[in-house]
Amino acid sequence: MTGNRKDDHVRLASEQQRQTSGYNHFDDVSFVHHALAGIDRSEVSLTTRFAGMEWPVPLYVNAMTGGSVNTGAINRELAIAAQQTGVPIATGSMSAYLKDETTADTFSVMRRENPDGFVMANINATTSAGQARRIIDLLHADALQIHLNAIQETIMPEGDRSFGSWTRNIEDIVRGVEVPVIVKEVGFGLSRETVSTLRNTGVHVADVGGRGGTNFARVENHRRPRGDYDFLDTWGQSTPACLLDTQGLGIAVLASGGVRHPLDVARALALGASAAGVSGRFLKTVLEGGAAALVAQIMDWLDQLGALMTALGAPDIEALTHRDVLIQGELRAFCADRGVD
Ligand code: FNR
Repeated sequence: MTGNRKDDHVRLASEQQRQTSGYNHFDDVSFVHHALAGIDRSEVSLTTRFAGMEWPVPLYVNAMTGGSVNTGAINRELAIAAQQTGVPIATGSMSAYLKDETTADTFSVMRRENPDGFVMANINATTSAGQARRIIDLLHADALQIHLNAIQETIMPEGDRSFGSWTRNIEDIVRGVEVPVIVKEVGFGLSRETVSTLRNTGVHVADVGGRGGTNFARVENHRRPRGDYDFLDTWGQSTPACLLDTQGLGIAVLASGGVRHPLDVARALALGASAAGVSGRFLKTVLEGGAAALVAQIMDWLDQLGALMTALGAPDIEALTHRDVLIQGELRAFCADRGVD
């Protein structure tokens, strides 16, 4: 069942990539152009430091695949691309491995093909601390992602309906593992209240995983015999809305969900994210052209991000947060409603 589900997710998420209309809330964020602000490209560093970690680039491939033959092959391509570009990568949910250990290789390939890279293992919020440790050991993982997906589970035909233990369990996992813990949404966003709770449970990093890209309400609706939860298609907060909502909470924040190109990466970093994660866009590239195509795309993105920082006069990621940005449209209305300055 889990293997089929993972294959369904890949098929439906990649179909969404072909259908996306274009606009999302990142388009409501623009940099004020200062024609004399530029610096020299040689002054720009893409290194990002947060929660005691240092990544060579502020871009990562976020959780997607593993658990079936097909998704294991995708993980191999992602890992080869990560090895060649230095971007951190995450596995898809490893609950498949906890149910069936014969799937181990579909996940551990991400370490085998990428021995020196930064690899994150991904679990759900009901996993025990002991299971989390087994998963970290299997991958020699550098960090652990825990995904929050109550709306996805609600729509998923075979979904879980018990969410009440999640906060306590996350606290147990944080205490029981020795790597940094990142808690992420899967495309519905993390609110200021949620991120405060995560910080209080000792979580090291919040990945806001907002609306605007891959839409798991639509993915799961397609998997139902009748699409009877389609009224949840627009549920949740967008990624830029989450970044604005969660500023100043004293916890490192990552941006994922609807990141389409290097300008979205720069926008996310300017709004306070330490790095930006991409799933759907990179999945499409890998399915169409394998690891070689993804390497080319990532190298282009990093080169273009560096070029944007040069024109903006931002020598490092921290400096980007001091650039002048305008917030307009729906995103501005969100800020007004939530009392965000
Ligand atoms: C995902 N995502 C995901 N997230 C997670 O924490 N565990 C998982 O197993 C999966 N599985 C998965 C499969 C596929 C095919 C996709 C495309 C995505 C969610 C992912 O990490 C991310 O939060 C969302 O996809 C939003 O980002 P994008 O796609 O808009 O860049």
